[in-house]
Amino acid sequence: MSVPIRPLDDPDARAEAARILRAGGLVAFATETVYGLGADATDETAVAKIFAAKGRPRFNPLISHVPDVETAFALGQATEAARAVAQAFWPGPLTLVLRRAEGCPIAWLTSAGLETVAIRVPGKPDARALLAEVGRPIAAPSANRSGRVSPTNAAHVAAEGFDGLDVILDGGACTVGLESTVLDVSGETPRLLRPGSVTREQIEALVGPIELAGHGDAITAPGMLASHYAPAAPVRLNATELRAGEVGLDFAGHLGAEADLSPTGDPVEAAANLFALLRALDRQGVAAIAVAQIPEAGLGAAINDRLRRAAAPRG
Ligand code: TXA
Ligand code: MG
Repeated sequence: MSVPIRPLDDPDARAEAARILRAGGLVAFATETVYGLGADATDETAVAKIFAAKGRPRFNPLISHVPDVETAFALGQATEAARAVAQAFWPGPLTLVLRRAEGCPIAWLTSAGLETVAIRVPGKPDARALLAEVGRPIAAPSANRSGRVSPTNAAHVAAEGFDGLDVILDGGACTVGLESTVLDVSGETPRLLRPGSVTREQIEALVGPIELAGHGDAITAPGMLASHYAPAAPVRLNATELRAGEVGLDFAGHLGAEADLSPTGDPVEAAANLFALLRALDRQGVAAIAVAQIPEAGLGAAINDRLRRAAAPRG
C-alpha cells in the first residue's frame, strides 16, 4: 500500500507523473522550497483531493506552479511591480498574487473563490521540466498533513501516509527548506503576505516600500479573513426548507433546490463545486442563500468551516 517513489530527474518518471496529473491524480514533487502535494489546478475535483488528503483542512487558496514567466502572466495580470520582481526572482522561491487574467482556467476551488491567483515558477529545473510536461498549472500546497511541518525530503512525504497520493517524485533534500515568499502584487502597493527567503529588503530594493500583512501564514492570521471570497447575498446554514426570497444551495437533494453541491452526497464532489456554485448564485443577484446541512465527515468539515465564514455577520 506504500506510495511509489521515483526520481524527479528521470524523464520517464516525469512523463508518467504528468499523465497521472492530467488524469486528475495526485503527485508529490520536490521544489527548492519544500515538497508540494500537486494536482491539476484547473480541475476542481483533483484539487478537492488535495484538501481531502491533507486531512481536517480549510479551503485556503493554493499556489499554482508553472514552468515559466510567460505562462505565469498568461494566467494572472502582470503589473509593473509584478514584472520587476518576476524578472529578478523567477524562477525561484517567490509566489506572486495576481488578478486573474481574462479566461484564466484556474479552478475556483484552487483560488478559494478569489479574483486573484497565486503563481510560482519554481527554481528547481527538474520541477519546471515536470510542469512543462504536464502543460497545465499545478496546484501544490506543502505535502504535509494539516498541522504538521512541511516536508523537505521524499521520506518525509512518504511518512505522511496520504490517501489518494499516486506517486512521489524524489528530488533529494530541498535547498531552501522554507516555503516561498508570498507577495501580493495585484493592487497599487505590493503587500508581503508570507515572509520567505526572498526578503522584504530585496523586494523593496526593486519596487520601493511595500506593505506588510501580519506574520507567518497569511490566511490563518486574524485580520486576513477579508482575503476570503464572501458571497454578496446573506447566507443561512443548516436550512431544512426554503423561505420566501431564498434560493437554495443544496446537498444530497435535501431542499429540492436546483443548485446542489453534490446530488449523491459526496463531500469531495461538494468541495469541488462549492466556490463555483456560490459564485453562480451570486451572479444571479439572489437576495439570500439557504444552505442545506452538510455532514462533518471528510471534506464536510472544511466546507462547513468555509460556509460558517460566509454566513458570519459582515464587518
Ligand atoms: O514554497 C511554497 O510556496 C510551497 C511549494 C510546494 O511551492 N507551496 C506552498 O503552498 O506553501 P501553500 O498552498 O501551502 O501556500 C499558499 C500561500 C498561503 O499562505 C495562502 O494563503 C497564500 O499563499 N495565497 C494563495 N493564493 C492567495 C490569494 N489569491 N490571495 C492571498 N493569498 C494567497
Ligand atoms: Mg503548508
